[in-house]
Amino acid sequence: MTADASALVRALRGERLDRPPVWFMRQAGRSLPEYRELRVGTRMLDACLDPALAAEITLQPVRRHGVDAAVFFSDIVIPLRLAGVEVEIEPGRGPVFAAPVRTAADVARITAIDPDAVAAAADPIRDAVRLVVGELGATPLIGFAGAPFTLAAYLVEGGPSKEHLRARAMMHADPAAWHALAGWLAAVSRAFLGAQVAAGAAVVQLFDSWAGSLSLADYREFVAPHSRAALEGATVPRIHFGVGTAHLLADMRLDGIADGVGVDWRTPLDEAAAVLGPEVTVQGNVDPALLQAPWPVLERHVRDVIARGRAARAHILNLGHGVPPETDPTVLTRIVDLVHGRDAAAA
Ligand code: CP3
Repeated sequence: MTADASALVRALRGERLDRPPVWFMRQAGRSLPEYRELRVGTRMLDACLDPALAAEITLQPVRRHGVDAAVFFSDIVIPLRLAGVEVEIEPGRGPVFAAPVRTAADVARITAIDPDAVAAAADPIRDAVRLVVGELGATPLIGFAGAPFTLAAYLVEGGPSKEHLRARAMMHADPAAWHALAGWLAAVSRAFLGAQVAAGAAVVQLFDSWAGSLSLADYREFVAPHSRAALEGATVPRIHFGVGTAHLLADMRLDGIADGVGVDWRTPLDEAAAVLGPEVTVQGNVDPALLQAPWPVLERHVRDVIARGRAARAHILNLGHGVPPETDPTVLTRIVDLVHGRDAAAA
């Protein structure tokens, strides 16, 4: 069997399987003691650009949990670092930029960088992906990138923000500058996805984590066309994910170029499937908060998610957002065992 015949790829092609494939956003990372040990003394973005280290961190959750897919250990700001933009990840905070991009002149300066610079500098990414794919065998690797709006939410602000006011203001105050910036970010993410696919990623996911802060009208006019441009170059099945996007779900199909749409924990999957229609696979949507609940409560919730997922043409089990760092990783393994029909207590 190859990654192409994997449950994940088949589900994204619309095949309904006996059990949904399962993986977790942020399955690699701080919930794993073996990750925390490997990361000592190395900054986040430096770890991402060390092929052997990035490959090993990507493989850790596959070995430990037996998930149906690996997700490449990297970050949405890596292609910006590869393009020469000064960015760091501050522990406990998130991406921070030395120079926020706020004015038309700032936009002109950053968009003067040729997005081809990303592909040219992406050897550490291609090398890491090749190492991972060589180890994975039939398990598919998911490559990913940040959507233009989520990247802009950090870049325009200069760091993390709650409501992403500056990026949303730019859309209306200077639409030409906004479209230039978002178009450039789409090209940068597209190049990052292209490098991962060229080296063997079997699926890609576009993270628009903060799209939920947008009105539907703004999403349609200022964001969706750029997200579509970021994803449409990829030659493998595509997943599009956001948080708080109940009002945007139908549009997140991006005119049908998304094979799967990720749904957060707020919208039951049967309701999401009714909105999304019969031509898209749903992904989600276990509430990350319930990872802290007693197992019988969590088990009932996971079974409910699976039952509701049957309303869609196909379902990929995941959380509604990333694994919280304080999660007990044995709980994640237990969910995988339950989905795979191996849970001792389920018998
Ligand atoms: O396992 C995986 O899902 C793959 C790896 C992955 C990371 N970041 C590793 C990471 C992925 C897919 C991302 C994407 C990402 N990065 C997103 C979109 C997904 C989402 O969660 O909504 C966003 C918004 C970012 C930006 C970012 N990077 C944030 C907000 C943070 C957290 C900062 C903190 O310390 O709380 C990061 C850092 C980051 N990216 C970590 C990991 C494992 C933690 C770094 C550490 O170990 O200190």
